[in-house]
Amino acid sequence: MNRHVKALLSGAVALAAAAGTALAAYPERPITMIVPFAAGGPTDTIARIVGEHMSKTLGQTVVIENVTGAGGTTGITRGAQAAPDGYTIMMGHMGTHGASPALYPNLKYDPTKDFTPIGLAAGTPIIIVTRKDFPAKDLKEFIAKMKAEGPKLNEGNAGVGSVSHTTCTLLTSQLGIKTARVTYKGTGPMINDLVGGQVDFGCDQIVSVAQQIKAGTIKALAIATPERSPALPDLPTTKEAGMPEYEVSAWNAVFGPKGLPADIAGKLNDALVKALDDEHTRKRILDLGGTIADKPGRSPAALQKLVESEVARWNPVLKGIAAQAVNPAGATSGATPPPAAAPAPAPAPAQK
Ligand code: MLT
Repeated sequence: MNRHVKALLSGAVALAAAAGTALAAYPERPITMIVPFAAGGPTDTIARIVGEHMSKTLGQTVVIENVTGAGGTTGITRGAQAAPDGYTIMMGHMGTHGASPALYPNLKYDPTKDFTPIGLAAGTPIIIVTRKDFPAKDLKEFIAKMKAEGPKLNEGNAGVGSVSHTTCTLLTSQLGIKTARVTYKGTGPMINDLVGGQVDFGCDQIVSVAQQIKAGTIKALAIATPERSPALPDLPTTKEAGMPEYEVSAWNAVFGPKGLPADIAGKLNDALVKALDDEHTRKRILDLGGTIADKPGRSPAALQKLVESEVARWNPVLKGIAAQAVNPAGATSGATPPPAAAPAPAPAPAQK
């Protein structure tokens, strides 16, 4: 074998050894977890809770970086374009990795192809919330008010494609009304304005409103899940409150950029699974009304399947609503356009 080939081979062996050492030593420095919304919202809340315990398992700090804008797609685009070295991961959700492709024709990523799925972090039921002095004592009165004054009511959300925007779009479409939409960089700041009375209502994930509801600083009308939440046992479901067709839930999950080495993705999934097995971490999520998947539901493969099914289920619903907005089916007859069919609820992860 000539010297040149030998040199090439020994170089390749050295490179492989170095790569192997790097993988074995991963992580050797802090890991950035991009949260694509402002601090204080549900995505940020879940990220900080699981990130804290993941830091212990990984032996390096998981540093939360809030990268906001465009309903979460700005931060997720940043994450998708990061180096696949395990030092940049992200907290995505049903909006960024389910609804967004239907709402952003030029989305710079494909949720089903451009990521390494790490695992599902938490399920997050949706609650219809209003400012505490909104003149409706229950969902029925709220619906009447919406139908009478919709365009004058300020609906707060976290931008096109966010969970709050997507789930309130479904609500207003089913009611056949429009509202005045106020966009925030996350529902953390939106809830602050709800407490202050600057906005009238929103559709938010339970983990960022449960404490405010218990404190009485905002009002909750119904939870859009088949069963009540153990965290808010007195809050009726939308079915009990008279709007059974409005049933929708969200989820938050950890992703890396595409092409993450299997060993690194495995270490990150292991750290996430250990966080969701930790009693203190579980209690923090469950007390806020989040749900935690069983072990099979936390696998990367389960997350990939969830993303594919969520993109497929939201696409026709949101495109149908947009088409109605452009040319309401009932416009010619003057009748209210038929309500958007609620997407079949995502498979609720079994609690374990
Ligand atoms: C949303 O999609 O509405 C976001 O989760 C809100 C947030 O996390 O701030």
